[in-house]
Amino acid sequence: MDRELVVVIDFGGQYNQLVARRVRECNVYCEIYSYKTDLAKIKAMNPKGIILTGGPNSCYEEGAPTCTRELFELGIPVLGLCYGAQLMQHVLGGKVERASMREYGKTEVIFDKTAALFDGVSEAEGGSDRTIVWMSHFDYISRLADGFRSIAHTDNCPVAAAQNEAAGLYAIQFHPEVLHTAQGKTMLHNFVHGICGCAGDWKMDSFVEHTIQALREKIGTGKVLCALSGGVDSSVAAVLLSKAVGNQLTCVFVDHGLLRKDEGNEVEAVFGPDGPYELNFIRVNAQERYYSKLAGVTEPEQKRKIIGEEFIRVFEEEAKKIGAVDYLVQGTIYPDVVESGLGGESAVIKSHHNVGGLPDCVDFKEIIEPLRDLFKDEVRKAGLELGIPEKLVFRQPFPGPGLGIRIVGEVTADKVRIVQDADAIYREEIAKAGLDKTVGQYFAALTNMQSVGVMGDERTYDYAVALRAVNTIDFMTAEAAEIPFAVLQTVMSRIINEVRGVNRVFYDLTSKPPGTIEFE
Ligand code: XMP
Repeated sequence: MDRELVVVIDFGGQYNQLVARRVRECNVYCEIYSYKTDLAKIKAMNPKGIILTGGPNSCYEEGAPTCTRELFELGIPVLGLCYGAQLMQHVLGGKVERASMREYGKTEVIFDKTAALFDGVSEAEGGSDRTIVWMSHFDYISRLADGFRSIAHTDNCPVAAAQNEAAGLYAIQFHPEVLHTAQGKTMLHNFVHGICGCAGDWKMDSFVEHTIQALREKIGTGKVLCALSGGVDSSVAAVLLSKAVGNQLTCVFVDHGLLRKDEGNEVEAVFGPDGPYELNFIRVNAQERYYSKLAGVTEPEQKRKIIGEEFIRVFEEEAKKIGAVDYLVQGTIYPDVVESGLGGESAVIKSHHNVGGLPDCVDFKEIIEPLRDLFKDEVRKAGLELGIPEKLVFRQPFPGPGLGIRIVGEVTADKVRIVQDADAIYREEIAKAGLDKTVGQYFAALTNMQSVGVMGDERTYDYAVALRAVNTIDFMTAEAAEIPFAVLQTVMSRIINEVRGVNRVFYDLTSKPPGTIEFE
């Protein structure tokens, strides 16, 4: 397949996947490779451009991740970001030193309006030569390599960006990939389109086509096992695999009794024997096992661990029945990777049971995570591209631990029933109001609060349901959605009238951060 490619060379920084995402937003296909990748391999891919990412090291230290001078002599435009910018200078004979003070956060840079990297930036800033960027560095470029000139600076940093136009080499000390850099997208667009000359005709169909082809080549005649949760991510992963290898794929769907109302049957209708896909489908009804394991447990992280561990046990038992497989598929997406602390620098915020922690005793050779580099909105695009029904593609994202993390305090079968019923009413009304495609994620959760109410002539002492609805682009940050009051009122009165055990309904206004999207 002849396609424009930009290669991102990873030096271990925390925003590396964002760089790739931004390039793809320019409709240019992009792949990430470790800095250890052989240069000949990269050259053979014939990339239109190369981007060197940030990283936690100092490039002048012994043993720091590095690259060779040849990388800059391939005749392919190279853009170095942060560590990548410093490394470019270091390798080409410039000087990088420790600054007296770390420069961190939003910073104003003064830039050269004539530089190709900053094309259109001044216009966007009302004709100014100043713009806000995101800085995060200890070291700075104190002397440029031959042929380079500085094209941006800050009060503390003489080289915030530099170029050697004749050689096609560009260095940016800040992080254009981060949204805090006001014109970052324009700068990356300028590199990818203006400087590298990419036409930008890559779309999700190429990702899908390329991934199916690559999976087919990799798997050959091998056997593949997939844990299907019924959520968007694992469903898209399963369909990709089913299109690649058909009946070589077996999907195990564990119904842990923490699914949304009727969801188990809906999943079975799509992926089971009566559905449109070619694969082997196994449904395990493990509700009782889960409820008994969760009895008396209130601490959220412990609940997550129990649900995750139990999932592994159930999955393991099924896998044993199936016997040795070659590959294990997971629907891991990028936010899972980052928030599990596997993405590099970031701390563990929550454990996600769908990343890592796989049963050692399941006999498999390798894990396949076809969606690992995608954000949620990209996964949806891939789903549509794959011809998965819209209803499923735009279905609410649903966490692996399910309603277990939408019930504050102990999980019981009765509380599950309350959340399922309340949530079904909420979803129905949101859809009726035509909001189901515009609101990012919405659901009902059960607070652990019981309070006094009155119903008919009777005093009640029942639970409060919390309604959550957020808008988000990438699920890393989110804001409460503005649901019309009338819709909320209808939902409230229906829940109180129709769901036994509830006498109050709240709407959660909290954004993320400081809240999380889930309610646990
Ligand atoms: P939070 O609550 O962390 O959620 O703001 C961000 C997004 O991730 C989903 N989420 C999970 N998804 N396994 C998953 O597959 C999990 O353990 C998990 N925890 C949160 C959440 O629904 C939201 O879309």
